[in-house]
Amino acid sequence: MTTRRKFIHSTVAGSAAFAFSRYAGLTAAASASDSRIEILPNESLGTISPNIYGHFTEHLGGVIYDGIWVGPKSKVPNYDGLRRDLVDHMKTIKAPVIRYPGGCFADSYDWRDGVGPADKRPRRTNFWLGADSEKSPANHRFEPNEFGTNEFVRFCKLIGAEPYLAANVRSLPAQEFARWVEYCNSPEGSTTLADLRAQSGSPQPYNVQYWGVGNESWGCGGNFTAEEYAIEFRRYSAWLPGYGRPLSLVASGPNDDVRSWTRGFLEEIVRKGRGELRNIFGLALHHYAWNLSRGKTGDWDKGKGDAVRFDPVDWYELLREGSSIEAMVEGHWQVMGEFDPEHHVKLVVDEWGPWYRPGSEATPGDILEQMPTLRDAVFSAMTLDIFNRHPEKVAMANCAQLINCLNSLYLAHEDRFVVTTVGRAFELYTPHQGGTSLRTIFSAPHADYSRDEKPATFWGLNGSASLKGKDLHLTVVNPHVSQSREAEIVIRGASAAATAAVLTHSDIHAHNTFDHRDVVIPQPAPVTIRDAAIHHVFPPASVTALSIRLA
Ligand code: AHR
Repeated sequence: MTTRRKFIHSTVAGSAAFAFSRYAGLTAAASASDSRIEILPNESLGTISPNIYGHFTEHLGGVIYDGIWVGPKSKVPNYDGLRRDLVDHMKTIKAPVIRYPGGCFADSYDWRDGVGPADKRPRRTNFWLGADSEKSPANHRFEPNEFGTNEFVRFCKLIGAEPYLAANVRSLPAQEFARWVEYCNSPEGSTTLADLRAQSGSPQPYNVQYWGVGNESWGCGGNFTAEEYAIEFRRYSAWLPGYGRPLSLVASGPNDDVRSWTRGFLEEIVRKGRGELRNIFGLALHHYAWNLSRGKTGDWDKGKGDAVRFDPVDWYELLREGSSIEAMVEGHWQVMGEFDPEHHVKLVVDEWGPWYRPGSEATPGDILEQMPTLRDAVFSAMTLDIFNRHPEKVAMANCAQLINCLNSLYLAHEDRFVVTTVGRAFELYTPHQGGTSLRTIFSAPHADYSRDEKPATFWGLNGSASLKGKDLHLTVVNPHVSQSREAEIVIRGASAAATAAVLTHSDIHAHNTFDHRDVVIPQPAPVTIRDAAIHHVFPPASVTALSIRLA
């Protein structure tokens, strides 16, 4: 049986419509509410870290070359080699933090290969060689190192995002981690590496705060046991140079619901005393929703579904797989509390999203690229709502991956660029960044359907609310493939005015392509105020954002 760990190992070592009519009842929306949303402005759940809206970029397939980096001499509009449309859109969604250079690639990467004069940088075998196809361009297989730390930090600075670098724990010594920190953060003129940085045009330090200590150390990042990795973590994180700015170190954490990793890691860390926890900002959790087999297999290849051809059961199945991340966050948090009762260490969900079988690539040859549909917009919105509802636990999250990959916000090839359904969902959620998350109670009829001749249900409406001053932002997902929901929205102790924007389509498979870029885009939607409550019809298969101004 193929597992995710085996998949990555074998790809590296060896080779490696359904028409559905909906909207019945949308225009003729129920005259009476069938659902209720109650927002409790006095019940704060905590501040939503903007970093929950973070991104992930890896030297993998078309993410860096073609996606982000087109080169300064390209005919594609660019800012010194960085794709202009991408930078511009990321600014509009206030992208707060970007993780780089992987992923599995990170634990094979020597950061020194990617600095210094671009024409002197070495070419290396990319970690993902073996997963490529005959259509993959050479720079996806053999890393030219045209894009490295300087280019990445420049990308972040143009956008206004914080860089989050993942250090190599599997194949470089701890000293190289310290030297990478030195290269990025040592003051102007202070060290040989600061001088090297200055020669690339940046005398001022990059001041990189977020550092991952390896990636998926249970698998491609070293194949460690949790205890072995904890020992490595202590060694790699001990006496790193700070240059007056405390570093926020992220430890490689569990895959999915594997609590034995969380327990084993923390048990070993605190063996030397609870003070060791002060060295850890976050524990990384990865969760990909990939198994659409309806319980028939756990095989990594056979269990996957199709990105664009799916039936309503696949729709619910994917959302169910994705919604399980809420129980994972709660479960790991509980284990973390056993060793860290003050919860100094937070969760960093630095890889999340659906993962389908190959076949829907917008650019053939881009490995792990898939076409996001309306289903993925709903999935992503639901996931962001989950993070919003746990602001005290989740300090950062990074959607995997930014462009030309799994749950991408963007697709690009040469001079073509499109904001996907996922990118459109992120637009609706931007106002949550930095808001106070409010307890919100959703009551709505469940979505009932038949799963392999057995009755199944999924929740009816769900979402999150946040407050900044008098501005309340409410996001709501209606997962039902064919029924709208009319909800009465009550804000306890307040009166309000509201506007709404909705992301939906009459076809659950709808997606934005290079040729049809605006198939699924946010549209304004009517809101009515009746009997001191806001009333809103949530269309089937939709993501809605309500901007509410409290009186
Ligand atoms: O995002 C693709 C891969 O998935 C990453 O490189 C790795 O960390 C995970 O297994």
